[in-house]
Amino acid sequence: MIRTEGLLKVYRLGEERIRALDGIDLAIEAGEFVAVMGPSGSGKSTLMHVLGCLDSPDGGRYWLDGQEVAALGDDERSALRARRIGFVFQAFHLLPRLSALDNVLLPARYAGGITPEVRDRATALLQRLGLGERLHHRPNQLSGGQRQRVAIARALINHPAVIFADEPTGNLDSRTSREIMTLFVELNREGQTVVLVTHEEDIAAHARRIIVLRDGRIESDRHVA
Ligand SMILES: Nc1ncnc2c1ncn2[C@@H]1O[C@H](COP(=O)(O)OP(=O)(O)OP(=O)(O)O)[C@@H](O)[C@H]1O
Ligand SMILES: [Mg+2]
Repeated sequence: MIRTEGLLKVYRLGEERIRALDGIDLAIEAGEFVAVMGPSGSGKSTLMHVLGCLDSPDGGRYWLDGQEVAALGDDERSALRARRIGFVFQAFHLLPRLSALDNVLLPARYAGGITPEVRDRATALLQRLGLGERLHHRPNQLSGGQRQRVAIARALINHPAVIFADEPTGNLDSRTSREIMTLFVELNREGQTVVLVTHEEDIAAHARRIIVLRDGRIESDRHVA
């Protein structure tokens, strides 16, 4: 599903060059649940952004679903992202003026339009995530855990091949974090591929594979029971 060879991302700050990704070789199969760990600045978010087609690499190769991403233009890459990728962020990134339902529908708007079926699916997703009574609430009328569940529904609306989540529980208390992680575990059991960044061992323990980055490189990559 995901394959990279020698993935490179270099940031320039004045004279300085920071190799945020310094030769990442990676293969992730459909149905995996991967946790990405590593110290602050090791390149975790950069990797999520590049794999999630929010940003393009400066070198190396990347195939998503058999398609070489680097060969795509900006528009094609955005279209691929809209159709095949779901993103969940630490700070939720919901649009404040839109209802929960309209936030969930947003990616569908870009990926083919909102049909009655899509609207039903958005409602069903929110119901499934325990927000059936909150469809028309705006983000500031929801708790942190509820906001993150709206963000997860939004990530799922287009049936993504993979969900990337960058510290999705970073802004949540420990009980709510456990609820959100239980949700990711359930989704993965149903076949959803999940790649999730976390600082916390007990969060990573939900995954079946743990990749540790250091200085833009893969320091370790192990499967767990
Ligand atoms: N837009 C940018 N411009 C310049 N340097 C950047 C930029 N974004 C990230 N970096 C640098 O790239 C490196 C990797 O950053 P990244 O955000 O991927 O780390 P991270 O592992 O996600 O860290 P954290 O755990 O703190 O979120 C760091 O040295 C960072 O300072
Ligand atoms: Mg980060």
